[in-house]
Amino acid sequence: MNTSPRAVGRSGLEVGPLGLGCWPLSGMTRAGITPGAAVATVAAALDAGIVHLDTAYCYGEAGESEQAIARAIAGRQREKAMIASKCGIHWEPGRKQCVDGRPERIRGEVEESLTRLGTDHLDLLYLHAPDPTIPIEESAGALSEMLAEGKTRAVGVSNVSLPQLERFAAACPLAACQMHFNMLQREISAEILPWCHSHGVAMFVYWPLMKGLLAGLMPRDLVFPTSDSRHKYPMFTGDEFQRNLDFVDSLRPMATRLGCELPDLVLAWTAEQPGITCVLFGATCPEQVQINARALACELDDEAREAIALAIRDRGPVASRRAV
Ligand SMILES: NC(=O)c1ccc[n+]([C@@H]2O[C@H](COP(=O)([O-])OP(=O)(O)OC[C@H]3O[C@@H](n4cnc5c(N)ncnc54)[C@H](OP(=O)(O)O)[C@@H]3O)[C@@H](O)[C@H]2O)c1
Repeated sequence: MNTSPRAVGRSGLEVGPLGLGCWPLSGMTRAGITPGAAVATVAAALDAGIVHLDTAYCYGEAGESEQAIARAIAGRQREKAMIASKCGIHWEPGRKQCVDGRPERIRGEVEESLTRLGTDHLDLLYLHAPDPTIPIEESAGALSEMLAEGKTRAVGVSNVSLPQLERFAAACPLAACQMHFNMLQREISAEILPWCHSHGVAMFVYWPLMKGLLAGLMPRDLVFPTSDSRHKYPMFTGDEFQRNLDFVDSLRPMATRLGCELPDLVLAWTAEQPGITCVLFGATCPEQVQINARALACELDDEAREAIALAIRDRGPVASRRAV
């Protein structure tokens, strides 16, 4: 993998090809994530040279993900970590997800995020998703003001359509966009990725491992319990799941031939796709981070690229649902 730093739009910031996605560390995606394991997982990323940490105000009902980052960076130099957070989504009682992008609301969330993280600035602040009840320019204006005030060094936007992206960028200096993308879910390739590339906006992608499926350890008879949010995603049930596992099996010979593990092959492929700036993988323990970090040393060759392209073509479109 080409590990050279990549520009975060025109912000002057640079980022490596891999970042740690800290959503699973919130404890909200499945049972069994302890605060200690969350801190150790972030520390493992920093120790492996993966310094970009992606979190959000709503990652945890009380910001558990941001709190884990704060504990992991305590005692390290703040500038050694590149921290992105997001605003505009919060939880109402009963774990009801609420998208609220009103300026006064998101300003309050950012102040709380900074307190939780124990820092006076973010490196990157995203609008997590557009609030359908107000013009996106109102939310963008608030992020633009927070950029001018130094609360963040750069601004991004996530989970947008192309018209929303264009309107956001017209109202606020935009450095980054964050969307889902992996071998089987490449919808952004049609419009959003080319637009970002031609407008100098960096693309950070989530779900590179398709919520763990492309890491290659899921057994064929796996049924997620209702405590695991993956039970709601159609790619993990019935025929769809079996066909996705067939796809995973078709990748294994390439990983073996290249002498790498499956998640490394997948992350290395994702990081080299044109227009992709940074690949945000999630992890639930330090061992997963250590395995995934080996992608930095994984070198694909043309034979692997062609075989992956063929496997993707043979699999065809997959069932999915939106994150937000
Ligand atoms: N902007 C948005 O709206 C949005 C939405 C979603 C995500 N994100 C960001 O993007 C990041 C990445 O997305 P994601 O975490 O949902 O999905 P992902 O990176 O596709 O999958 C992460 C999951 O895969 C499993 N895994 C990771 N490495 C593994 C390994 N080496 N072996 C076996 N299993 C492994 C872990 O789950 P288990 O151990 O539980 O199996 C882990 O939680 C998030 O953490 C978040 O920061 C943003």
